[in-house]
Amino acid sequence: MSEVNWTGRTGPFTFRVNPGVFAPTHTSKTIAEALEVGPGDTVIDVGCGSGVLSFVAARLGADRVVGCDISEEAVEMARLNARALGLEERCEFRVGSLLDPVRDLRADVLIGDVSGIPDEIAQVAGWFPDGRAGGPTGAELPSAMLESIGETLKRGGHLYLPTGTIQDERTILAKARELFGERMQAVIERDFPLPDVVGKSLAAARMMKDGLLNLHKRGSRFLWRLRVWRCER
Ligand SMILES: C[S@@+](CC[C@H](N)C(=O)[O-])C[C@H]1O[C@@H](n2cnc3c(N)ncnc32)[C@H](O)[C@@H]1O
Repeated sequence: MSEVNWTGRTGPFTFRVNPGVFAPTHTSKTIAEALEVGPGDTVIDVGCGSGVLSFVAARLGADRVVGCDISEEAVEMARLNARALGLEERCEFRVGSLLDPVRDLRADVLIGDVSGIPDEIAQVAGWFPDGRAGGPTGAELPSAMLESIGETLKRGGHLYLPTGTIQDERTILAKARELFGERMQAVIERDFPLPDVVGKSLAAARMMKDGLLNLHKRGSRFLWRLRVWRCER
C-alpha cells in the first residue's frame, strides 16, 4: 500500500492506493480542475478508483457523492480513504459495472472517468495494475459508459468526460454527440508526453498507422492531447 499526496484541486490531502488499484494521474488532476460542483449537488463518480475525484467533489461542496467501480479492491480502498479523510458521511462507494450500481440516483454531476486506454497500450505502459483497460481501441468502455447513463443524469446536469488522442477518440465523441448533441464543450485541453516505452511500441505504431491514435511529436518525443468535455443533458 502506498500513500498519495494529492496536490491537485482542493488539496493538499493524502490518501492510500494499493498495487491493485489505479493510481491517480495527470488525467485525474485535469478532470479535478474542470469540475463545477455546487452545494446541494449529487455527484456520481463512475470509475472512481481510490476515490480521489469523489473527495474533490465533496470538498467542493457536493451534498452527496456516490463513487462506483468494477474493482472491489478499489471500492474498498475508496471507503477506507473516505473514512480517513472524514468524508464518509457524504461519500459512499459501490461495486459494479458502469452505472449499474447507481440506477436509484439522479445526479447533477457525473464524472465519467472509466478506463479508456487501448488494452495493448495499457499493457505496455503498465498503467492498469489489474489488467482492466478500455478495450481494443480504448473507445469500447467509455462508449459503453455513455450508453449506460440512462436516467442517472438529471436534465440540466453535466457529465465530465475525458477523451484523448491516445485512444480512438473519434468513436467516443460520436457516441457523446448522439446523446448530448451540441451541448458539449471541451473545457480543458492539455498535452502530455507519452512514455518512451509506449511511443516506441509496435502497438502504438500500428494504431497510429490505422488512424486510431493521433499523437504529435515534439523533438523526439510523442505527445498526446487530453480534453475534458462538459456535456449538458
Ligand atoms: C482511469 S482509472 C480512474 C480512477 C480514478 N477516477 C482516478 O482518477 O484515480 C479508471 C477506473 O475505471 C475502473 N473500471 C474499469 N472498468 C470498469 C467498469 N466496467 N465499470 C466501472 N469501473 C470500471 C477501473 O477499475 C479504474 O479504477
